[in-house]
Amino acid sequence: MIAYISGDPFNYVDLGPSTAMPVVFIHGFPFDHEMWRPQLDAVSKTHRAIAYDLRGHGMSFVGDGQFTIEGHVNDLLGLLDSLNISRCVVAGLSMGGYIALRALERNPERFSAAVLCDTRSEADGNEGKLKRFSAVANVKKNGSIEFAKGFVQVAFAPQSFATRAEAIQRITKTIEHTPPLSIAGTQLALASRTDTTGSLANIAVPTLILVGENDTITPPTASQAMHEKIPGSKLHIIPNAGHVSNLENPEEFNRHLLVFLKQVQPLHT
Ligand code: MLT
Repeated sequence: MIAYISGDPFNYVDLGPSTAMPVVFIHGFPFDHEMWRPQLDAVSKTHRAIAYDLRGHGMSFVGDGQFTIEGHVNDLLGLLDSLNISRCVVAGLSMGGYIALRALERNPERFSAAVLCDTRSEADGNEGKLKRFSAVANVKKNGSIEFAKGFVQVAFAPQSFATRAEAIQRITKTIEHTPPLSIAGTQLALASRTDTTGSLANIAVPTLILVGENDTITPPTASQAMHEKIPGSKLHIIPNAGHVSNLENPEEFNRHLLVFLKQVQPLHT
């Protein structure tokens, strides 16, 4: 389906019972909403499950290729408004988590619970920023197919190439179809994101933190640090998974997600 946010077209899916508690899934970089398929299938049995393609990704509007995490938060709120959703559970993986964390900091009244997956609250340090600037130069020079090759090697745990080959193939194709303009623009958005660590203690909604045991991009130590600061949060380390834990071990990931959502529902519908 298409929603128009500030006049720009966004691709999204809206599944499950329309009167149930909405759960909005935000994908990581540089994926699209399909990365949430195992969660959408499971969650939509009991909840309204919404996932969309971020600006510059999937089938959503690319525009001039200049993005910020702040702009992605504006888009998220615009999507909620266009769907008449006053409060939702927000679930974000990696970049999706950065967007969720800034949205929780800026507009806490729009959220009834949070699921933070393979993400972190700290902004990039100098070394991280420099790595992104060289990735920008590389993707502009060599294109998205080359970028995809390098990215999946880092993002997925080594064992997943044998056990989850199909999921990795699908993600690789998604990255290959993402324009270099979007990959470059998103790297700059990631490099310029603000640090949300200072506001973690203010998160007053039930929060679930999930991370792959072999995540090297946003490692379990980053999740542990958020868990220590977010009051009452729950943390689970997903075995046999790297940075894309929802696809590398969907069974374990969904088990924790569904238990959490069941507990949230009676308090926050
Ligand atoms: C993501 O998966 O969204 C990115 O790897 C996040 C990042 O590079 O910081």
